[in-house]
Amino acid sequence: MTRILFVCLGNICRSPAGENTMRDLLQKEGITDVSLDSAGTAGYHIGKGPDPRMTETLEQRGIRVTGQARQFSKQDFADFDLIVAMDEDNRREILRLARNEVECSRVRPFMSFCEEFSNKEVPDPYYGGQEGFELVADIMADGCTGILREIRK
Ligand code: 4NP
Repeated sequence: MTRILFVCLGNICRSPAGENTMRDLLQKEGITDVSLDSAGTAGYHIGKGPDPRMTETLEQRGIRVTGQARQFSKQDFADFDLIVAMDEDNRREILRLARNEVECSRVRPFMSFCEEFSNKEVPDPYYGGQEGFELVADIMADGCTGILREIRK
């Protein structure tokens, strides 16, 4: 079983988009030995579902969206094999909580899995318009395909 955790700031836009896009892809490929979750480095939205704008954008693409926000914790280093950070602030915050090299080595930028997009970070769509959510959904499709390629190796 490969366990993957997607992490952003609030756990209501980018990381649930990653988790649910990946789940959709795994289902289509018939892959059942991968488990997924997402978390936020901040605690502002604990207990909330994904942002309705993110949900709507993904559902328009046929991707079912579920989830309830929670905060990233040190326990996640034991519970996941791969921890995927949506931006550099998130990545730094996760690494700050890591206790050793093994834990650090599990943390990867989401963008490192992308082929089509060359951005360094997944842009935060929260304070912007619909085009930001569409961009996140496009980036998730690219990066999750990359993650799938990697776990197949
Ligand atoms: P996310 O987006 O990190 O992709 O879930 C955000 C959600 C909420 C806030 C910022 C970003 N916020 O400031 O409340």
